[in-house]
Amino acid sequence: RGGVAIAPSLLAADFARLEQEIRAIEKAGATLLHLDIMDGHFVPNLSFGVPVVEAIRRTTDLLLDVHLMLDNPANYVEPFRKAGADVLTVHAEVLDDPRPVLDQIRALGAAAGLSLNPPLAVERIEPFLEACDLILVMSVMPGFGGQSFQPVALEKLAWLRDHSDCHAVLEVDGGVNAQTIGPCAAAGAEWLVAGTAVFGADDYGPRLADLSQSAQA
Ligand code: DX5
Ligand code: ZN
Repeated sequence: RGGVAIAPSLLAADFARLEQEIRAIEKAGATLLHLDIMDGHFVPNLSFGVPVVEAIRRTTDLLLDVHLMLDNPANYVEPFRKAGADVLTVHAEVLDDPRPVLDQIRALGAAAGLSLNPPLAVERIEPFLEACDLILVMSVMPGFGGQSFQPVALEKLAWLRDHSDCHAVLEVDGGVNAQTIGPCAAAGAEWLVAGTAVFGADDYGPRLADLSQSAQA
């Protein structure tokens, strides 16, 4: 823990120019890249899968933060780890007991993340805090970029920040922009996912710098 980092979400990049987009985000000073994997079941959208993550891994040394929006994450953690994921985050909504898959992620040598959507009470993940290296608090219903930030995420972040059993990195995802990033950081978020707020800019360097500054203000 310590400090804040902007995690650009590649979902908002130009997929026809992925390599140039990744170079540009590296040059802009990003240290990690958030990759949204969607299965058309857990979320009503599709994105990209293992071969694309593998291709991204060959293109960059950025830390790859892979967000699995999947009904059956246990079937996919190994292929995504082999493709080069550094962090693998699964959703609490689809797992009665997330511990086996979190343990599996750690056994594969990656950091284990657990995510919760806006409707899921944060107390529901309390029994699993020790198994988490990262907790991803969703501030929108996942599936699409460009949605409005839901403030319920702030209460959850503060609850996790103040919980003595929580040693995980706290991450927030959805609707993070220059207005919402400050409250997120103040509530304890350390990794701030931003899709449209980053890739919607003409120049990513100044935008990342502005977002970092807003997070620290
Ligand atoms: C939403 C994804 C997000 C998305 C965020 O389903 O999990 O990572 O890319 O996009 P913005 O920052 O535009 O809300
Ligand atoms: Zn995401």
